[in-house]
Amino acid sequence: MGDRPLKNSKLAPIVAAAARANPGHVGLIMDGNGRWAEHRGEDRTKGHEAGLKTFHRILRASAAFGVPILSVFGFSAENWARPQAEVAKLMALLVQYLQDYRHEFLDQDCRFLVTGRRDQLAPEIQALVALAEQETSGCQSRLLNLALSYGGRQELVDAAKQLAVKAKAGVLDPSQIDNAAFAAHLYAPDLPDPDLIIRTSGEQRLSGFLPWQSAYSELMFHDALWPDFSPEMFLACLEAYRRRKRRFGLVETRL
Ligand code: IPE
Ligand code: IPE
Ligand code: MG
Repeated sequence: MGDRPLKNSKLAPIVAAAARANPGHVGLIMDGNGRWAEHRGEDRTKGHEAGLKTFHRILRASAAFGVPILSVFGFSAENWARPQAEVAKLMALLVQYLQDYRHEFLDQDCRFLVTGRRDQLAPEIQALVALAEQETSGCQSRLLNLALSYGGRQELVDAAKQLAVKAKAGVLDPSQIDNAAFAAHLYAPDLPDPDLIIRTSGEQRLSGFLPWQSAYSELMFHDALWPDFSPEMFLACLEAYRRRKRRFGLVETRL
């Protein structure tokens, strides 16, 4: 299976903060690093370095802008098929970032969580991820959910497998499987669905990001390449979100 489900009662204050905030949970598809570098005549990896700096700025901005939960697409299941040198650079950046900046998660009272098939990560990266998760497990103000080696179809397949195993063992009656029972087997079942998902670089697709959880998310596509995405642009997206009307299939708007 891809991941340990996030089962922790300490999450309750963060989930409650997200329920009060508007939006409470924002998803980010950080796209366009490679093009940003190519436009400058540089190697794609330079774009990933710049993109990491942008990520850090936006993480800080999300605290300032009162967004309690941020889910960020850092590396997809399909990204493993990129050239080996690029994959290695992305993994090296992740290691360096966690080594240099994970103390900031504690400073920001921000819980850190990785969702995806973490068993595909190198053992030393798995250990560093587990350390950052453990160090921040008491943080109660905010949460950063980093999707790593994450594929939306894989997440659904992993959930289906767990349900099938339980049904075969006789501990789950298939007729009892409903939306809630299915969602309880996703990678981070205690997190609320994202209210808003922003993708940069002008591409208008989700590329497998949170297919179950995004069913009623507001989608926003920004033309900026990820390294150019600024806190001001992020704030403008949050403000545009607040002007949207969400109906969830009903006649009345519901916030
Ligand atoms: C997003 O930027 C970062 C990852 C997918 C890891 P890209 O590397 O996809 O940049 P483009 O889309 O090729 O410009
Ligand atoms: C999605 O971006 C994955 C991440 C941002 C980590 P991609 O660049 O991999 O997506 P496609 O290939 O353009 O759909
Ligand atoms: Mg891309």
